[in-house]
Amino acid sequence: MKYTLLWLFNLLVITALSQPTSPIVIQTKNTSLVFTIGKNHRVYQSYLGARLANTEYSTLTGGQEAYLTAGMENLFEPAIRLVHADGNPSLELTYASHTANQQGNVTTTRIILKDSVYPVEVVLQYTAYFNEDVITASATIQHHEKKPVRLTHYASTMLHFNADNYWLTQFHGEWAREAQMVDEQLTNGVKNIESKLGARADFYQTPTFFLSLNNPSTETSGELIAGTLGWTGNFQFTFEVDQRNQLRVRPGINPYASDYTLKPGELFTTPDFIFTYSNQGKGQASRNLHRWARNYGVLDGNGPRLTLLNNWEATYFNFNEDKLVELFDGAKQLGVDMFLLDDGWFGNAFPRNDDKAGLGDWQENKTKLPHGIGHLVSEADKKGIKFGIWLEPEMVNPKSELYQKHPDWILRLPNRAENLSRNQLVLDLTNPAVQNFVFGIVDSMLTKNPGVAYIKWDCNRPMSNTYSPYLKENQSHLFIEYTRSFYKVLDRIRAKYPHLPIMLCSGGGGRTDYGALKYFTEFWPSDNTDGLERVFIQWGYSYFFPANTIAAHITSMGKGQSLKFRTDVAMSAKLGYDIRVNEMTPQELQFSQEAVKNYKQLSDVIWYGDLYRLISPYEENRSVLLYVNDQKSKAVLFNYNLTTRRKDLFTKVQLQGLDPKKNYRFRETNLFPGTKATNPDNDKVFTGEYLMTIGLNLTPGKVVPLTSNIFEITAE
Ligand code: DGJ
Repeated sequence: MKYTLLWLFNLLVITALSQPTSPIVIQTKNTSLVFTIGKNHRVYQSYLGARLANTEYSTLTGGQEAYLTAGMENLFEPAIRLVHADGNPSLELTYASHTANQQGNVTTTRIILKDSVYPVEVVLQYTAYFNEDVITASATIQHHEKKPVRLTHYASTMLHFNADNYWLTQFHGEWAREAQMVDEQLTNGVKNIESKLGARADFYQTPTFFLSLNNPSTETSGELIAGTLGWTGNFQFTFEVDQRNQLRVRPGINPYASDYTLKPGELFTTPDFIFTYSNQGKGQASRNLHRWARNYGVLDGNGPRLTLLNNWEATYFNFNEDKLVELFDGAKQLGVDMFLLDDGWFGNAFPRNDDKAGLGDWQENKTKLPHGIGHLVSEADKKGIKFGIWLEPEMVNPKSELYQKHPDWILRLPNRAENLSRNQLVLDLTNPAVQNFVFGIVDSMLTKNPGVAYIKWDCNRPMSNTYSPYLKENQSHLFIEYTRSFYKVLDRIRAKYPHLPIMLCSGGGGRTDYGALKYFTEFWPSDNTDGLERVFIQWGYSYFFPANTIAAHITSMGKGQSLKFRTDVAMSAKLGYDIRVNEMTPQELQFSQEAVKNYKQLSDVIWYGDLYRLISPYEENRSVLLYVNDQKSKAVLFNYNLTTRRKDLFTKVQLQGLDPKKNYRFRETNLFPGTKATNPDNDKVFTGEYLMTIGLNLTPGKVVPLTSNIFEITAE
């Protein structure tokens, strides 16, 4: 009763002062998201779609409640469900005030909602990135009740749609077959795409989707949103089509086993849901996200990347100092920037000679590396290459000194058998002592060896049989606190080492999200480096992540595939090698040396250009990608013939994104020594208009399976 009167009074004052007469409009160059306030003071999403030339939104009314609550008249999935300190499970959120703050290209709008009975406040935050056409949405929940409240649902936002049909594109998989694209029509009821894996959270599902309205969208047509969540933990995207065919999309942290006890005055801030709207198909949506990612979402997104030679596929755990120094020669011969030492360099009481022991003991193995990492750094330096190193700081093998010394630092059930995965357990990162330990691994590596130029940060298992000794009775906070703690450690690392390139790896694509990419320069999409498989895996990730974040290494995987094919596939993303250079034939070496040079010359266009996916490997037995730079003066075209058969008759490919008025020279590059360009159009000049309207035949003559071409298209 006390609360009721106080909050009723507050509400009257606030609404009297700040009840907006016009809608709240969140705008980018081409999109508007419009909220209106109903007579009942609740906030409604009245519009989401193409931006109107005139701001006629003042006539808009109604719509769907922006951030649906639970416990009152709402009968569908709520954005928020909160159980008050007195046990009452209801919430009504009404408009209190809003602010908009513009800083150049970025405008942040905060809509403050309050309950009329209980002292609960929710702030809906929308950040509009004008030029990129991207909006991020999050919510902050706070209360001033006498005792903690319990949050059982806490979505980042809720978006409403009213179309004839809805088509969902999702990306699922597992180890070595990540990001497989599937399209389906949504029917009535609830569909969830989610993770419950804790660490390595994206192992089965990538936290990305397209939602197409009315009809399935293509690369160049259709109305859709592309969405992803910036959270390196359990996520959930709920799609609910109701009895009137209206759709609610609810993105956020997966509330599974994660009731959150919120103390009075404590802020609970959800991760950002990042989305873009397009009425010109998936290609435009994807380019919007790439631009946003490079400008705002990825560490040093507009900065250069290092080409490298990794030793994992070349040696696995079987190496020593001399062998590594020899491998440096391989890196030098290839002309890459760096040598990356992978797993197996550490552990003494429990040497890391396979994946069964040593994880957690981050001292150089004295037998393999008697002179330590410092020696390797200076040997690399003598050869004119940089040196990088693999770490898996969040994990421990039971066969390790760490396990013996700190049994209380490990996530595991106190009274049940340990559940090992890859022979390892996850450390209890919620414990500040463990956070110090993890920070210390990176910090001491870089302090002792300031020459270390790169880190590969691995994470090879999900959580299971999980219990945090540190959180004690608050086990339902574990999944959330683990991810927050991961960010705390990364904040400390980035405060001290702001620009050190770090690859986000998780046994392949177990971590692929923009929550982490704020701290990382790139990610490892898959352990599967077979060229044919990578065409599909990289295709899937390419929708949401720019090429300079997608690490693609040439290895010896890929039966029946030429080095040329595997190289051409890797060159369409962030190039690296993981191969025995000394086993290459002289021609293969020469080809690879030229490929590295070509890549360095083309990488500006690949890393920072606009991507046009011209032919999908899901639709034809080939795949064609085109990157075009901002000035439209240079483009790079990748043409991959897959497992083609006689029946495959490939038509001309129309290019996109060029300047119709410019003249472009079309020239094949990255040819294997001793071969010549066979395309009759090679080295000819065409207008952009011709290339985009009539197009080119990329496969004249007999189509040979698993072959490829790279063409440079240069304005003259
Ligand atoms: C999994 C990674 O994906 C591989 O590239 C390699 O680093 C291994 N872990 C090492 O254990």
